[in-house]
Amino acid sequence: MRWSKEHIISIKDFSREEIDFVLRKSAEMEKKLNSGRAFSLMQGKILANLFFEPSTRTRMSFETAMKRLGGKTTGFPFSEISSEAKGETIADTIRVVEGYADVVVIRHPVEGSARMASEYVSIPLINGGDGANQHPTQTLLDLYTIKKEFGKIDGLDITIVGDLKYGRTVHSLTNAIVNYDVGLNFISPQELRMPRHIIKDLEENRIPVKETSKMELGDSDVIYATRIQKERFPDMQEFERVRGAYVIDMETTKNLKKSAIIMHPLPRVGEIAPEVDSTKFARYFEQSRNGIPVRMALLCLVMGVNF
Ligand code: CP
Repeated sequence: MRWSKEHIISIKDFSREEIDFVLRKSAEMEKKLNSGRAFSLMQGKILANLFFEPSTRTRMSFETAMKRLGGKTTGFPFSEISSEAKGETIADTIRVVEGYADVVVIRHPVEGSARMASEYVSIPLINGGDGANQHPTQTLLDLYTIKKEFGKIDGLDITIVGDLKYGRTVHSLTNAIVNYDVGLNFISPQELRMPRHIIKDLEENRIPVKETSKMELGDSDVIYATRIQKERFPDMQEFERVRGAYVIDMETTKNLKKSAIIMHPLPRVGEIAPEVDSTKFARYFEQSRNGIPVRMALLCLVMGVNF
């Protein structure tokens, strides 16, 4: 397959063939990384990380990915030290950055901001998360983790539990999963159900989906837990009502399939008890590490670098 994407904005822009291609290229990249053969692919190139919202994993793993490829990085980790604090628009910031870097990753709290920013640049732009909307590179590393574990995605029973209303990682993941033959279970408080337009999309693609507020995980191959997104709630009283709604602890793990895995995009704030970390089910730290080969592969693909 030939790569044809200038930017990575939304996982909805990817066909199944394109997702599978990224997963294959990420596996190739992981081999190259482990054998020390990736270190000069991006020599002389600069990545700009523009983070208008907090991040540990996305920002640092893109930075590490670029450095592991032999490139360099610039940018800012939060908006207060950028000229947005003086009133500069994203459109102006991005046109300036185009003159400083070869590829840009942007995270911004406003939905649609990455798409809008991409209209002002001719260098590749990657969405590192836009509000509650999309987090496409997280989805690709999530799918990579699942594929690595089970050797497939089709045929699995996947449960997503937590804040399904505001969580961009679960929106992106669900958008991608419509391309596969899986069973989906959504567990959330009533107030935090998956947006109806995403459910409609699943129904149109004939993906069986079960929605409930009860934590039933016994049939699941993949349990994908997610944080209640406090920062997106317009009303803190509403947040307090749902805070701590679901906690995966040692008791929970007793009822899981022996081969099940627990994933989480992180950060976690109480959704998974620390004791679970040392069980055979935990995959969230490995998932986070998988961000490196996946983002190395994506940087090369958007930059047209062969590997
Ligand atoms: N998973 C994820 O996007 O983490 P960060 O917010 O730390 O980047």
